[in-house]
Amino acid sequence: ASASAFKRNFASSAKPRMLNGRTLAPTINHNNSAGMKILAVLYKGGDAAKQEPRLLGTVENQLGIREWLESQGHEYIVTDDKEGPNSVFQRELKDAEVLITTPFHPGYLTRDLIAKAPNLKLCVTAGVGSDHIDLNAAVERKIQVLEVTGSNVTSVAEHVVMSILLLVRNFVPAHEMIERGDWQVSEVARNAYDLEGKVIGTLGAGRIGYRVLERLQPFNPKELLYYDYNPLPEEAAKKVGARRVEDLKEFVSQLDVLTVNAPLHEGTRNLINADLLKHFKKGAWLVNTARGAICNAEDVAAALKSGQLNGYAGDVWNVQPAPKEHPWRYMKNTLGGGNGMVPHYSGTTLDAQARYAAGTKQILENYFQGKPQEPANIIVGLGKYETKSYGKR
Ligand code: NAI
Repeated sequence: ASASAFKRNFASSAKPRMLNGRTLAPTINHNNSAGMKILAVLYKGGDAAKQEPRLLGTVENQLGIREWLESQGHEYIVTDDKEGPNSVFQRELKDAEVLITTPFHPGYLTRDLIAKAPNLKLCVTAGVGSDHIDLNAAVERKIQVLEVTGSNVTSVAEHVVMSILLLVRNFVPAHEMIERGDWQVSEVARNAYDLEGKVIGTLGAGRIGYRVLERLQPFNPKELLYYDYNPLPEEAAKKVGARRVEDLKEFVSQLDVLTVNAPLHEGTRNLINADLLKHFKKGAWLVNTARGAICNAEDVAAALKSGQLNGYAGDVWNVQPAPKEHPWRYMKNTLGGGNGMVPHYSGTTLDAQARYAAGTKQILENYFQGKPQEPANIIVGLGKYETKSYGKR
């Protein structure tokens, strides 16, 4: 094993590796943590990443851990090339021990790929949301899946509140009018409302959902509702004045605004489809920053077109990057507005990147040293789900 580890780590380098002017001796530590292959799939940052080193989640800035990893003799491969059998992701995965991915540019780790990665022991999600990994297959193979829980939940909650406001207040068409050089107040005011007095609900009242409720309370909504099989502690629900509704159809039928804050799993995939949309109040607003595939793309676009929905906003897509022809790029409500879609970035503010890069490093450090991981970060432990958030099991 040490000979192949040596080959993997050092044989390909023509020059001795340098760190801070020091030559790194190509020695192998004979403990289990020596010479691991760590593969990271990150997004390409381009000029922005060269100019802004705090864009840590990019292939250019590599979560800021290359020197640290290499100084310990690990091999660190970073790529954004993730689709198809010839992608760097799929080729390098075959003998990687650790895989780091982000939800923003997800390396989709399917059951098939897991079967082709016999050395894989740990998947780290730099961020929150590990649905791009086949978690059931990870359970079976005893591959641990960890994420940096909490690292960007405030970032997303702020984005949710912003998205609700921009839909309800009809902001995007108003701004576009200004850029066009026009000025016709009635054209935008005809579909602009106050958030005060509306009924707002979150599907999923975990870390993000609860933060959204906390941030919405000062707007004096008529009511705050939530739907979640894990009820909030009584004190917490009381603090934000939120009422739980146990039936999904009954829940959505009461809402002016729905915000989706549940993970993507078997129980939420395609949950918001034409059937459920029929039960929404006509002209409701829908914000989804959780995962694109929770909503049916075509059904949402059709609901906007028919007036069943007045607006849809979010940053998550069923395929990422979203293809040019994706209906969510262009869909509009009956008045030509109601679209608040952006690329997946709510959870990757510079503040969030600092937190999830530091959290990723901590998880790796624990792994290398055989120390216990922060329980809240463990989605899949050795052979079982540790989280209660990925569906009732
Ligand atoms: P969390 O684990 O704290 O809370 C999730 C909640 O959803 C739990 O209370 C769980 O019981 C509930 N839930 C699960 N299935 C449900 C169902 N079928 N119906 C109702 N509730 C259900 O997770 P957190 O931190 O709040 O994140 C939630 C999700 O948000 C992540 O899994 C991820 O997909 C997404 N996210 C998006 C980001 C972005 O940049 N757009 C960044 C971070 C997270």
